[in-house]
Amino acid sequence: MTPDRVDELKNPVVRGRTIRINFNRTHISPERLMDKFVIRGGNPLVGSIRVSGAKNAALPAMAAALLTDEPVILENIPDVRDIQTERNLLVSMGAEVENPEAAYELVKTMRASTLVLGPLLARMGRARVSQPGGCAIGARPIDLHIKGLERLGASIRQEHGYIEASADRLRGGHIIFDKITVTGTEDLMMAATLAQGETIMENCAREPEVVDLAALLTKMGAKITGAGTHTIQIQGVDKLHGARHRIIPDRIEAGTFVIAAVLTGGDLSLTNCDPSHLGALIQKLQECGVNIRASTDSMRVTNGHRLVAADIVTEEYPGFPTDMQAQYMALATQAEGTAIITENIFENRFMHAQELVRMGANIRVEGRRAIVRGRTPLSSAAVQCSDLRASASLVIAALVADGETILDRVYHIDRGYERIEEKLKGVGAQIRRIGEILPKRAAAPSVVA
Ligand code: UD1
Repeated sequence: MTPDRVDELKNPVVRGRTIRINFNRTHISPERLMDKFVIRGGNPLVGSIRVSGAKNAALPAMAAALLTDEPVILENIPDVRDIQTERNLLVSMGAEVENPEAAYELVKTMRASTLVLGPLLARMGRARVSQPGGCAIGARPIDLHIKGLERLGASIRQEHGYIEASADRLRGGHIIFDKITVTGTEDLMMAATLAQGETIMENCAREPEVVDLAALLTKMGAKITGAGTHTIQIQGVDKLHGARHRIIPDRIEAGTFVIAAVLTGGDLSLTNCDPSHLGALIQKLQECGVNIRASTDSMRVTNGHRLVAADIVTEEYPGFPTDMQAQYMALATQAEGTAIITENIFENRFMHAQELVRMGANIRVEGRRAIVRGRTPLSSAAVQCSDLRASASLVIAALVADGETILDRVYHIDRGYERIEEKLKGVGAQIRRIGEILPKRAAAPSVVA
């Protein structure tokens, strides 16, 4: 077997017309949708965890492969359900590339599926993408994606639950986002790479995942400057080519383990991570009294002091990430004093609060603010995961709760955390997965990113 063939088998390879993706291992199958976690609290997390590749960087990178008919080889792709969903989506389109369509059955399970809209339109001249389904953490419209594509000359109709977009060839334009949007910035950046002329995008998201996507697109031959700032300029080119790219480490996975280590009074090292992407979290935890030592690609956290509550306000990067808000709330239940948590990005992202209260926390939600009174002992309960990050906060709470907690609907966690129970078990947690085997044809639940 040639080295290239070996690489193809290890990494997803997406070709424009014949899309071929191979995963050499996968642990999530549809029959495991109703798995539960059983967690016994009390053990400190001690040891080392290797951080996986970032789901939120891998998803746009896979969509970017639609921009070329040459192979794009992506390394460090996490083995999580959202990636499988996107793989299925791309495969389904590979079969009918002359009729590019992203069907509801696939898009409803993951909002980030909208990321295929820009690349399909740019390369194929038209796209038909289902509107994402209802969402657990707020309305999350995609109007900014649509307005941006219209600024690049696309005609867009929305009917029967689908977005139908067409353009002979997109042309460069000036886009000022009404609001900062991460996947919106990524979608439009991809579309503009093949547009005729120059595109200037203002009020862009500055997340590391946007910068990573720009790095991949640049390797593919795109002309992009300014990624990581509020203004991105793209000089359209006629064609993009294949490339090989390593996805950045998952900053949210790293942050989740850091908080778990802090709360359990552990001593945890994280490898293959990028602490420079975690500035706001590290600073906040230091304010709470946590010991963190970071190098370029690893960090070590120990909890030598008592924890003191600090307020947080979620913001766009480089502010405190909304994707760490739920985990931080679990921490605040154990810190000394009262923490006020303000959620600025999504309007309905406190569903974990009521589950934490069922475990003994003292939390009052008032609109976009949650007031958490600290040092409340947590005790085991049967709790339900409601979305990806809410689930992570419940895992963390269970790790310090008294007794055995049963966490239902862990498919939410499987969407974005690679083998979380194995990683936690490896550093001393008492956690196990129990499965309720369902018939193979059971419908997938509707979940969103
Ligand atoms: C991405 C992340 C998600 C993270 C979020 C905020 C991925 C795959 N997901 O989601 O994990 O929680 O950023 O950091 O990268 N909005 C509109 N109209 C639009 C688009 C967005 O009003 O067309 C609003 C949303 O409702 C929300 C805000 O803008 O209030 C930010 O959303 P956005 O940055 O787009 O989130 P996602 O890109 O979906």
